[in-house]
This record gives sequence, structure tokens and C-alpha cells, in this order.
Amino acid sequence: MKVDIVTIFPTFFDVLDVSLLGKAAATKLVDVAIHDLRDATTDVHKSVDDTPYGGGAGMVMKPEPWGVTLDGLLGDDSILLVPSPAGVVFSQDMARELAAGSHLVFACGRYEGIDSRVVEHYQQTHRVIEVSLGDYVLNGGEVAVLAILEATLRLIPGFVGNPESLVEESHEAGLLEYPSYTKPRSWRGLDVPEVLLGGNHEAIRQWRYERSLERTKRARPDLLED
Ligand code: ADE
Repeated sequence: MKVDIVTIFPTFFDVLDVSLLGKAAATKLVDVAIHDLRDATTDVHKSVDDTPYGGGAGMVMKPEPWGVTLDGLLGDDSILLVPSPAGVVFSQDMARELAAGSHLVFACGRYEGIDSRVVEHYQQTHRVIEVSLGDYVLNGGEVAVLAILEATLRLIPGFVGNPESLVEESHEAGLLEYPSYTKPRSWRGLDVPEVLLGGNHEAIRQWRYERSLERTKRARPDLLED
């Protein structure tokens, strides 16, 4: 998979080298390139933002540098992702869809976001997803891109050492994952549930399913409505 990230803070993505994603890059499962939006500006100040039409607080990112940069990156098979608190909420389903793609291009907005015509323009020719991490506001798209990338790349076959570990985790079956324990059997007066020590696989499966259901009811009842 090829991943292109456009940002005004390229060093934000230095962390990719030390995280799980660095491993993916090293194993050639994914090829990540970072692009500085300011390289596509033409004025001495390399300005990427301006005041909003209609007034209001904050600045809006100008469309021209985005046009120049994205024209150079997008191909027939590209998906353009624009992190925004006004987007659809990112999910495990979306991570699976992205993991099956061949080219992801991320456009990191800052300030009050990117001039809306950028998304409107590329929607005419490409799949464009405005994507939100959740119901809160970040200062820009960079942190969202790191989260989306980590959730997506680990689903690429060959990325996670033991693919079975992906099957039983939270959100894979529409439920939250059951609680996990390791040694010692007793810690600070808390014991590992007896059923997990017995080797009765059916009883363990049943116990885990019940705990998953219980956890989901408590923390995320909305998941059970679907
Ligand atoms: N940019 C600012 N806030 C965001 C959010 N909640 N999700 C994704 N991108 C954002």
C-alpha cells in the first residue's frame, strides 16, 4: 500500500519511524511519504491560510496549494481522506475498507479547516472521505491521521504477527473484547477467574462471550442497538 500525507507539520510524522508503522514501512508492506503543503505555495511567506468569507473567527486554508499538491499525488485508485470533526466517525469497518485499498492520501487541515471547494472538487473524480475521530475538536488532522493509519495498517495481511489476535479483539464482532489475564494467578488479593484455569475450551468461550456482552452493555450500549 502507498500512503501520502500532506501537512504543514512534516516532523509530526517522525513518530512513524518508532511505532508499529515503522515496522510496516521496514517490511515494505507500506510505503509512506510526507509532503509539506508549503512547498506548493508561491509567495515569500509561504502562506497557506486566509480570513474566512462571511466573517468569523480563525483562518481557513487556501485551496490553491492543496490543488497543486493533490493533483500531483492522486491517481485512479486513490482514496482521499480529510480528517475533520465534521466528517463521518472513523470505525473498524472503515479501517477494514481502507486496509483493502492500494493508495491512501491524507490531507491534514489546520486552523478552521480547508476551503470547502477542495473536497467538492476532488469528489467529482475520486472517493473522498471526510473522517472524524469522534465528537471532540483537535487542533488539526495530524493526530487523527496517526490513529487512522495505525488502526488501518495493522489489518493489512502480514502486518500483525499472529492474525488470530485480530479476530477476537474489540469491535471485530460488534462487541467489546472480554477481559484478559496473565500470571500470577493471584495479585493484590485479586484472582484470575477459575474458569480460565481449567482448560475447558467451551466453558472459556462461553465465559468470554458473556463478559464481552456485559462489558458492551455497560460501556457501549449503542453497539447492541445495531
Ligand atoms: N480535526 C479536528 N478535529 C478532528 C476530529 N475530531 N477528528 C478528525 N480530525 C479532526
